[in-house]
Amino acid sequence: MNFHGHGQFPNTRLRRLRTHPWLREMVQETRLHPSDLILPLFIRTPEGPAEIPSMPGVRRWTIEELPQIIEQILAVHIPAVGLFPLTPQALKTPDGKEAFNPENLICQAIRTIKEMAPQLGIIADVALDPYTTHGHDGVWNGTYVDNDLSLDLLSKQAVIQAEAGADILAPSDMMDGRIAAIRQALDGANFEDRAIMSYAAKYASFFYGPWREAVGVAKLPGQDGRPVGDKKTYQMNPANAEEALREVALDLQEGADMVMIKPGLPYLDIISRVHQTFLVPTFAFQVSGEYSMIKVAAAQGWMNEQAVMEETLISLKRAGATGIFTYAALEVARQLNK
Ligand code: PBG
Repeated sequence: MNFHGHGQFPNTRLRRLRTHPWLREMVQETRLHPSDLILPLFIRTPEGPAEIPSMPGVRRWTIEELPQIIEQILAVHIPAVGLFPLTPQALKTPDGKEAFNPENLICQAIRTIKEMAPQLGIIADVALDPYTTHGHDGVWNGTYVDNDLSLDLLSKQAVIQAEAGADILAPSDMMDGRIAAIRQALDGANFEDRAIMSYAAKYASFFYGPWREAVGVAKLPGQDGRPVGDKKTYQMNPANAEEALREVALDLQEGADMVMIKPGLPYLDIISRVHQTFLVPTFAFQVSGEYSMIKVAAAQGWMNEQAVMEETLISLKRAGATGIFTYAALEVARQLNK
């Protein structure tokens, strides 16, 4: 930016434009709108618990209960929801085959929501971890997640979700080549109209802790077979930024329509660089741990919950996010609509 020609104190006083609420609003550069917000929803069977202790204010919904929450979403003009299942333990297998059951929780939820609210977008997560006994996103061969074997299964999962009515398929598994594989499978099943939102730069983050509790993914086995609790052989190293650009470039070449950066707040620089480099719709995910940190501190009375939530979301937009997945979407949208 060129600062020549800008004034100097005392002729120039930047505080002048901060004097009144209307003036601050008039010169505001970034705005948050309900249409920027995507609400993730957890789906359960009637036997599954509703409460998620690690995520205050978030609960799991049965198929029968879905209309309650969908009505609230429609009332505040949130454009889309993202869906995650709490799969009953008895249905989990090493290959996660419940993911390919057209009657699984997610497919039922998709059909129920589509029937009730065809105007609401549905984003289905493509990854095997909610369905596998080991909790990894792909095929676990005992020591490692097998990339190429996983591609077939993820493609199959995406097609099943598209058949149920999902508008956007969002692969969060971080296998190499999955965007091309899923695009080909979707097109092969005549779903050329369905979009892919790639979790292109997904970091091996410990901010996912509360989410893993919410979908019942307990302890992940590591390379030696012992539980170590990480996905570092496929998700990105938090120390890397250049690599995120390579991930996004590859996914776009393979046919991704939109990309996502995840988590959100710790990765503002990545959002900014991706947005400026590729000029494609770039989404951010304010993940479970980011959400819960704010909720817990606010519950202690240490921070103003609504103000901090909105500050973090506007920061993501300012960095360049087109839209944001946030568990606070409903409460924030209600506030914005006032
Ligand atoms: C995995 C997946 C994760 C999240 C969404 N999809 C967690 C993980 O990679 O272990 C996390 C979302 C959140 O923390 O809010 N398929």
